[in-house]
Amino acid sequence: MGLHFWYDKTSMNQKNLAPHAVPKEFMTLHELVKKARQKLNHDNWDYIVGATETETTLKRNRQALDAWAFRPRVLQDVSHCDPSTSFLNRKIKLPLLLAPVGSLELFVADAAVASVKSANEFSIAHMLSSVCQPGMEVVAQASPDALRIFQLYVHGDSAWIDEMIDRAIACGNAAFCITVDSAVYSRRERDIAKRNLR
Ligand SMILES: Cc1cc2nc3c(=O)[nH]c(=O)nc-3n(C[C@H](O)[C@H](O)[C@H](O)COP(=O)(O)O)c2cc1C
Repeated sequence: MGLHFWYDKTSMNQKNLAPHAVPKEFMTLHELVKKARQKLNHDNWDYIVGATETETTLKRNRQALDAWAFRPRVLQDVSHCDPSTSFLNRKIKLPLLLAPVGSLELFVADAAVASVKSANEFSIAHMLSSVCQPGMEVVAQASPDALRIFQLYVHGDSAWIDEMIDRAIACGNAAFCITVDSAVYSRRERDIAKRNLR
């Protein structure tokens, strides 16, 4: 969300940054994280950075991602680089999808709307969490052309699921996604240490 003013909209080339688009405060992701740490209350910070159990899997995932590297291909013609690809029969400018994050409204009231608009502006895919307010209709209306996917946590019977699917189709989602790893709410030691128990 907050990254969208880093680059000029049309070229995404820093040399072409319009003067008003030059960020005064944030030039790196680390600066954004640092500011979030300062601004967010303890519970919201723990929610956004925390994970299940002792967070060993989170650390492992981080290490696994860090183990990937770009292979430099030197002495190549780089005058034209095109990172665009297609996804769900739509062209996207970057091979990226904004993953679903529930309860975004804890941070900014219209964060779900802001994130779908940012995704559309940069022509990448957006997945809306079913535990985000406002819900799918408002988000669809805010950005009808965005490549939208709706994610569902299943906590109803099959009639309820059918209704959710109908709603997701009616408001133009390109796909529907069911999260299957949450039959029970996870045990989070970060929360337990604060005696914040569900
Ligand atoms: C704060 C937070 C909230 C999330 N909320 C959801 C959610 O509502 N639905 C869902 O399917 N996944 C949710 N996820 C999982 C993310 O969509 C994503 O799959 C996961 O964080 C792994 O991607 P990452 O390594 O880029 O964080 C959430 C993750 C975080 C950190």
